[in-house]
Amino acid sequence: AHSTLLAPSILSADFTDLRSSIAIAENAGAEWIHCDIMDGNFVPNITFGPFIVQAIASCTSMIIDTHLMIAAPDRYIEEFVKAGSHQITVHQEACPHLHRTIQFIKSLGAKAGVSINPGTPVSTLESILPDLDLVLLMSVNPGFGGQKFIPSSIGKIRELHNMRTRINPELVIAIDGGITEDNAQEVVSAGADALIAGTAFFKAANPAETAAKIRALTR
Ligand code: DX5
Ligand code: ZN
Repeated sequence: AHSTLLAPSILSADFTDLRSSIAIAENAGAEWIHCDIMDGNFVPNITFGPFIVQAIASCTSMIIDTHLMIAAPDRYIEEFVKAGSHQITVHQEACPHLHRTIQFIKSLGAKAGVSINPGTPVSTLESILPDLDLVLLMSVNPGFGGQKFIPSSIGKIRELHNMRTRINPELVIAIDGGITEDNAQEVVSAGADALIAGTAFFKAANPAETAAKIRALTR
């Protein structure tokens, strides 16, 4: 049906030249730019905050897709929206009051997403699914770029795809972690609409060519 959404993760880009990195993604035709926010608490790594998101937002017209891998994300959601995030994704595992958090994101005018770790079942999303704009399925344990795709993620995409057909056909399914030219086709046939790719895109010899290949494979 629709064409696959490509979302390079800025985490794997050259941070000494953020403007050029963003231009590389934009010129490759990426629809979203994925911003990985880590707090050294929910995940064992620290990345960047709203200040950098604002810098990214200031030099692109791509959708700013912000992935909050932080504990108690409610504290920072408003700042990330003000920084220019169009979409805010929180972790199910970090939100005891997930429904409230999702309504809060929407009240700020952003699209609302929930992410689940590889060890969290898709079934935990059933009650919140009607309220969501997107689900970000983790196909690696969050914390680092450059990890290997966990094969059981394919079954989770299928399960989520069946669930959305039943409950929320508008839902966007995004898959995050270890996405490459070699598995793009399989994840899209399983039901993924958006592919997050850090290493495979930014560390490619020719990112635009890689993006074009992935598009051709997932048409
Ligand atoms: C993992 C992040 C991912 C990661 C993807 O914690 O949420 O977005 O940057 O990077 P690759 O594509 O290298 O797995
Ligand atoms: Zn991410």
